Amino acid sequence: MTLRNDRLLRALACKPVDVTPVWMMRQAGRYLPEYRASRKRAGDFMNLCRNPQLACEVTMQPLDRYAFDAAILFSDILTIPDAMGQGLYFSAGEGPRFRKTIRTAADVESLPSIDPASDLGYVMDAVSLIRRELNGRAPLIGFAGSPWTLATYMIEGSGSKDFRRAKQFIYDQPEAGHLLLRKLAEAVTGYLNAQIRAGAQAVQIFDTWGGILSTPAYLEFSLPYMRQIVNDLIGEREGRTVPCILFTKQGGLWLKEIAASGCHCVGLDWTMDIGRARSRIGNLVALQGNMDPSVLYASPDVIRREVDAILRSFGSGPGHVFNLGHGITPQVDPDNVAVFVDAVHELSATGRR
Ligand code: CP3
Repeated sequence: MTLRNDRLLRALACKPVDVTPVWMMRQAGRYLPEYRASRKRAGDFMNLCRNPQLACEVTMQPLDRYAFDAAILFSDILTIPDAMGQGLYFSAGEGPRFRKTIRTAADVESLPSIDPASDLGYVMDAVSLIRRELNGRAPLIGFAGSPWTLATYMIEGSGSKDFRRAKQFIYDQPEAGHLLLRKLAEAVTGYLNAQIRAGAQAVQIFDTWGGILSTPAYLEFSLPYMRQIVNDLIGEREGRTVPCILFTKQGGLWLKEIAASGCHCVGLDWTMDIGRARSRIGNLVALQGNMDPSVLYASPDVIRREVDAILRSFGSGPGHVFNLGHGITPQVDPDNVAVFVDAVHELSATGRR
């Protein structure tokens, strides 16, 4: 099956494109009334993830509404700890929670290794179904959480404001911390490779909480495990490179190190100026980002102006995938998303720049 829109894969390979490709983190989510309706039918969020038909349905919703250049698998990063027996649940308004937490070296040692292709078979079924449904319309991005980001949830047992327990764990028990991260890196590698075998054409690693670490701690506890994953991924499938995007939120300080990890693209949050990031990294890898998601609350004129500013800051030449600097928030007006996506395409069109 031919891929009719390959802008994303071309930009990730730093090849020229007609217009800058755009997708959005959390593009299938609560800001869309049709998503809220599907979730209501599913009962709750995890039922939505565990049902391949419903996961496929919500993955397609943003593509049916907007001119996005990629689909992203609808699932969650916490499926891995769930498959390891940690008992994931979502309580209303409180975000993710785990029935079991990791607090001791013995907890880490008894953590089972998983076979992602079978233990997370529902995710692979969703990937194959989405690929069939997309039918070459746009590429499908698979994803996973970084080992460090997964570890924070497993140790804390939920989200956290200060990550006190997760940090205490790596400082007090670095060996157990490394064992946990090794186990998670192995699971994430298997999980992403299973997604690639099932049809994912690019993958993104979400290191949402890498940026809470000190520089030495980031370089010891987060980046090396992502580097190892990147190097163990299936590099080519269906005759094409399968690119990997690394997104460390608040990772602006470590761009050079991230870009040298072997990844094809560095995801930027909105705090970084994309032009400055480009001049620091050079044209070694592509860059993804990085509009502040809150700009989507502003008026259409402001949204267009901000899109233009980011395109100008990136400058000419290939290697830019437009995105937000983090996920879209539930209160955004869906009409503003159309303004955003259309502005990226219009303002980046060859000849205009
Ligand atoms: O981007 C997409 O459209 C793909 C789907 C996707 C979801 N979660 C769906 C989701 C992706 C890529 C994720 C990744 C994820 N999940 C991350 C990393 C990315 C990031 O946002 O930094 C993290 C940290 C999680 C863990 C998680 N899942 C949290 C903290 C929450 C609650 C957050 C909130 O906004 O309430 C979730 C739930 C979740 N995952 C929702 C969606 C659409 C909201 C669930 C709902 O109530 O319908």
